[in-house]
Amino acid sequence: MTDHPAHQHPRDAAPADAPAHHSDDAESQAFRELLRGLRVWDVELPSFDPATAPAEPLPLFRQWLREAAEAGVPEPHTMTLATADAAGVPSVRTLMLHDADERGWHFASHRGSRKGRELAERPRAALGFYWPAVGRQVRVHGPVTAAGPEESAADLHRRSTGALAAALVGRQSEVLGSAQELARASEAAWERARREPEAPVPSWTLYVLHPEEVEFFQGDAQRRHVRLNYRYQNGRWAQELLWP
Ligand SMILES: Cc1cc2nc3c(=O)[nH]c(=O)nc-3n(C[C@H](O)[C@H](O)[C@H](O)COP(=O)(O)O)c2cc1C
Repeated sequence: MTDHPAHQHPRDAAPADAPAHHSDDAESQAFRELLRGLRVWDVELPSFDPATAPAEPLPLFRQWLREAAEAGVPEPHTMTLATADAAGVPSVRTLMLHDADERGWHFASHRGSRKGRELAERPRAALGFYWPAVGRQVRVHGPVTAAGPEESAADLHRRSTGALAAALVGRQSEVLGSAQELARASEAAWERARREPEAPVPSWTLYVLHPEEVEFFQGDAQRRHVRLNYRYQNGRWAQELLWP
C-alpha cells in the first residue's frame, strides 16, 4: 500500500510550490462570483427550542433524521466520516448510516480501506450530517469498535444485491490499474451476488461509533443559530448551549 502524497509535506506547512497570491484570471474570478452568488437556506426554517430537547441525544437524532426525510432532503442517511492516521493526518469521506441505537452510530466498510486502516490505528472518529432543507447539522464523535464477523455479515446480507456486489469487488482504496480491471471484477461480483446472496466478504466490517459528544445545530435566518451540545460524562448526558 502506498503512502498518500499529501503525507510528504512537512506538517503544518503550506506546500513550497503554493502560489503566494490568489489567481485573478477570468476563470478564477467567475468561480469566486459563483460561490458568492450561491445561497443557503432560501427556505422557511423550522425553529428548535432546546428547552424541549430530550435528556439524551439519540431520540432527537432520530427525530431530526425523520424530519429531514419528510422535508425532502435527498439521502438524509448519508454522512461525512472523519478519521485520522497514526500521525494525526485527517481524512473524510461520505458513508451511509446503517443504524443509530443505544450502542451508537453504525456504518460499514472494508477493514483494509484507508478508513479501515486508520480506524485500526486510531479507533476514534467523527460524523457529520447536513440537512439543507431544514438548515440542520449534527456532529457526533467518540471511540469506534468493530463488530464481529457474524454481525458484520448479517448487516451486509440484509442490504441490496448492489451493496453485496460492491463489497465483493473488494480492494477498496487500493490503486486501480484500469477501468477495464474494475469492469471485469464488478461483473463477476454482480454475477456472484445474484447467485449467492449470502456470499461472504471477510473484509467487510460493521463499525459502531460510541458517542461521547453529539451536537445539534439549527440554522436561523437572523444567524442566531441554536447549538445544543450533549456531552457524556460521569455516566450521564449533560447538555450545554454553544455560541454560534
Ligand atoms: C452517498 C455515498 C455513500 C457511500 N457509502 C459508503 C459506505 O457505506 N461504505 C463505504 O465503504 N463506502 C461508501 N461510499 C464510498 C466512500 O465515500 C469512499 O469513497 C470509500 O469508502 C473509500 O474511502 P477511504 O479510501 O477513505 O477508505 C459512499 C460514497 C457515497 C458518495
